[in-house]
Amino acid sequence: MRIYYYAQGTKAAPWIELLRAALPGAEVAEWAPGAPPADYVVVWAPPQQLFDEQPRLKAIFNTGAGVDALLKLRLPPQAKLVRLDDAGMSVQMAEYVCQAAIRHLREFDAYEQATRQGQWTFRKPRSREDYPVGVMGLGVLGTRVAQALRQFEFPVRGWSRSPRQVDGVQCHAGEDQFDAFLAASRILVCLLPLTPQTEGILNRRTLGRLQPGGYLINVARGGHLVEDDLLPLLESGQLAGAMLDVLRQEPPPAEHPYWGHPKIVLTPHTSARTDREASVAQIAGKIRALERGEPVPGVVDLKRGY
Ligand code: NAP
Ligand code: GLV
Repeated sequence: MRIYYYAQGTKAAPWIELLRAALPGAEVAEWAPGAPPADYVVVWAPPQQLFDEQPRLKAIFNTGAGVDALLKLRLPPQAKLVRLDDAGMSVQMAEYVCQAAIRHLREFDAYEQATRQGQWTFRKPRSREDYPVGVMGLGVLGTRVAQALRQFEFPVRGWSRSPRQVDGVQCHAGEDQFDAFLAASRILVCLLPLTPQTEGILNRRTLGRLQPGGYLINVARGGHLVEDDLLPLLESGQLAGAMLDVLRQEPPPAEHPYWGHPKIVLTPHTSARTDREASVAQIAGKIRALERGEPVPGVVDLKRGY
């Protein structure tokens, strides 16, 4: 069995070492143009050339949860596309979103600014009940995030394509229930996959439906947000702020209006990083299962786009 690893901007050697240790019979190498045919590839942001030269792949393992970039390429039709299922990401996502929601609820930005200016002043405590959180996407990450927010006693709603049940979370599904979900939320978390249906879903109309003084936490993909729509909503006070881990262009150009904006906190696509050890363990387990002819979780439905 031959396996190639390729990830733009990541050192291949530690991944290859771990894959070799987890799959002792396999020949594992970094993919390079002209490499002989392999059975599996483990990739992040590969060039089209990799797939053009590898027509016999049994499966393509993405070293992330979101497969939107891979779906822009022509993939060998028989190859299964497999995303990471959690693999250490959901706890990081829960940390990130809970800190952002708590930071907004407890006004820590305002306290930080005040104490930097030498002011020791108290603000009237806000009630969690007035800060319901809506989680868009109740998949592997969204469900964990919704559950973590419940631990802090936020009222939590979720929205997904098909009906879901999550303890303590009021779940909505489908386009018909989208507006009701938005109207019941003040803090909005985006954990949707980027697909033709979800591209630009965070826009003037949808964000305008949130309860006034809303707060946006986008940890999914930059393509979900219509970036020009955010600024007027922040200026009018319809949105009190936003914490954005993802942007359409990463890093954003120097003239991007979000840099230094007082109501926007940016992080560089780091809310849930790929955990190498956990990912290799998961991928190796799935390769062994596929070799035995067994089904594996996390196979992307190419029609749905996630
Ligand atoms: P997932 O398990 O595939 O869950 C996706 C959820 O979105 C599902 O609940 C799905 O509904 C829902 N959904 C999809 N299309 C929808 C639509 N048109 N309308 C309503 N709901 C829709 O994905 P995941 O593992 O939780 O990851 C979510 C996304 O997070 C990834 O695709 C990736 O873009 C992003 N991500 C970002 C980072 C980062 O560091 N910033 C890290 C990891 C992942 P159903 O339940 O009905 O299928
Ligand atoms: C990161 O953005 C991922 O999709 O895993």
